[in-house]
Amino acid sequence: MAEVILENVTKNFPGDRKAVDNINLKINDGDFCVLVGPSGCGKSTTLRMIAGLESQSGGRIFIDGEDVSNVRPAKRGVAMVFQNYALYPTMTVKENIEFGLINNKIEKNEREKLINEITEIVSLQGYMNSLPQELSGGQRQRVALARAMVKKPKVFILDEPLSNLDAKLRVQMRNELIKLHKRLKTTFIYVTHDQVEAMSMGDEIVVLNNGKIMQVDSPSSLYNNPKNMFVAQFIGNPPMNVFNAKDIKDSVLEMDSRIKYIGFRPEDAEIHKTKPKTFSSLVIEATIDNVEILGSEIIYNMNTKIGNLEIKNFDKTSIVKDQAYLVIEKEKLKYFGKDKQAIDADIETLDDMPSFERVVS
Ligand SMILES: Nc1ncnc2c1ncn2[C@@H]1O[C@H](COP(=O)(O)OP(=O)(O)OP(=O)(O)O)[C@@H](O)[C@H]1O
Ligand SMILES: [Mg+2]
Repeated sequence: MAEVILENVTKNFPGDRKAVDNINLKINDGDFCVLVGPSGCGKSTTLRMIAGLESQSGGRIFIDGEDVSNVRPAKRGVAMVFQNYALYPTMTVKENIEFGLINNKIEKNEREKLINEITEIVSLQGYMNSLPQELSGGQRQRVALARAMVKKPKVFILDEPLSNLDAKLRVQMRNELIKLHKRLKTTFIYVTHDQVEAMSMGDEIVVLNNGKIMQVDSPSSLYNNPKNMFVAQFIGNPPMNVFNAKDIKDSVLEMDSRIKYIGFRPEDAEIHKTKPKTFSSLVIEATIDNVEILGSEIIYNMNTKIGNLEIKNFDKTSIVKDQAYLVIEKEKLKYFGKDKQAIDADIETLDDMPSFERVVS
């Protein structure tokens, strides 16, 4: 069992910068947990504290039920793979993998057994005598994984391990890592700043910002029920459109006074060429600034009274130019309060009157 628990974990660097600000997190045994957030939000610092490479300024860390706050890195049962996987350039693949085992005084027969087992898992059997420079980026990354795995860690920690790879290889390695996780059934903690990568890999995603946890949830909950405006706009591409509630006040009959911001996903707006006759929808007049045709989908950049909006549409047969009306059903709108937290609220009495009477224009 290798559950990882962070209890009120804080890291202050000199100069009073809180890199990690009172984080509480429980990662279950065998989970594939992804930490995601913008550059500088504290992802690497959090990982380094779990691995013991950085001490925490406050709080406690438990691995497998044991308080490891003051335990040396080598004794925590954690293996780490970094973005710059730093293989020894003059050592062969086998020697790279074997190095840590020799350091740990594992005897030769046992070493051979472990190396054979691991190289099969990461499909490197044919490359044992190659030097790192003779390998592709993906193969090198697999050597780095093998080097970490051979130590049979209780917890695997991966800090942006794929960011040096090209887009295609990255997708392939993502899938390999997911398969590897299924096979090993070890707890994985994976860091990325790429929300698409996070969404495609994690069972559970932890969204961080400014050293704080914004939300911990499954990919679908993060997307459909963001708890705050940060998550709403960080997850999803293009991000959720968010505007000031007061900018539509004159166009709705009544609005809950707690609502300060309103959002909707780019794919949740219909595009109409003429003024539509709908009920219980928000209708916004727009001029089209730019149309990006991206294979199966089209991204419209639009200028409206409530600001610039990005709209995603899949209808390639009738590309709209110049002028449009956006129709967003009331159910698709998300509401946020003064503190930018999501609130359960409503725009009242929209149903009573056809929306074309109240176009936001
Ligand atoms: N050794 C250090 N000394 C001082 N400040 C540091 C140190 N390491 C990190 N920081 C600061 O702590 C904050 C968090 O850094 P961290 O490396 O954890 O971010 P990150 O989320 O991993 O970012 P990135 O996506 O760019 O890798 C940053 O503001 C950074 O400048
Ligand atoms: Mg980092």
